[in-house]
Amino acid sequence: MRCVALFALFGATSALVATPMRATAPRVARATTAPVLMSAAADDFVPDMQRRTVMNLVLLGGAGVPVLWMLGGFVFFFIPNTGGGGGGGLIAKDALGDDVTTAGWAAKYPYPARSLVQGLKGDAHYLIVKPDGALEDYAINAVCTHLGCVVPWNRAANKYMCPCHGSQYDPTGKVIRGPAPLSLALAHCDDAGGKVSLSPWTETDFRTNTPPWWK
Ligand code: FES
Repeated sequence: MRCVALFALFGATSALVATPMRATAPRVARATTAPVLMSAAADDFVPDMQRRTVMNLVLLGGAGVPVLWMLGGFVFFFIPNTGGGGGGGLIAKDALGDDVTTAGWAAKYPYPARSLVQGLKGDAHYLIVKPDGALEDYAINAVCTHLGCVVPWNRAANKYMCPCHGSQYDPTGKVIRGPAPLSLALAHCDDAGGKVSLSPWTETDFRTNTPPWWK
């Protein structure tokens, strides 16, 4: 019985002694190798500040260009279209959408003919060719001031006659018969490098000596 107890005591003591040795050996190995691996990894993959700066600039440029592009388009949308031609005017367009040339128009529609071009705000405008073949320095907006019909030029009657409700305008576009309440609007007409340029008329209306109602 004593032998059995001694064997048991010896076994328990051996277990107590041997177990810490098996358990501590791997801990020592892990403790010495892990920092070395991490240090090597850190040296290999962490970029330096110069690389980071370059990468940030590349990313900033790649994102900034499209953002500025869209922002510019957004702001441009709210800027009124007052230009398009020489001298701040808009180049008149013919029925095909081509630029109207001064000499070409005068040759195609000689005095006393009057014909329409597309002008300011997309409205139809009459260009007036004078007897000497030059263009008048103003154009007449063909939109009737009553309800907005395009008013034809009646060459035989020498006036503009609206077919919708009978309003009439003299050769300068001044209203001479209702129900139209106002004269036809004016625009400046100039030569811009051989092309016809239209620009807003903001001065006194020379036909009525009043401020322009269309301003
Ligand atoms: Fe011209 Fe009525 S739209 S007279």
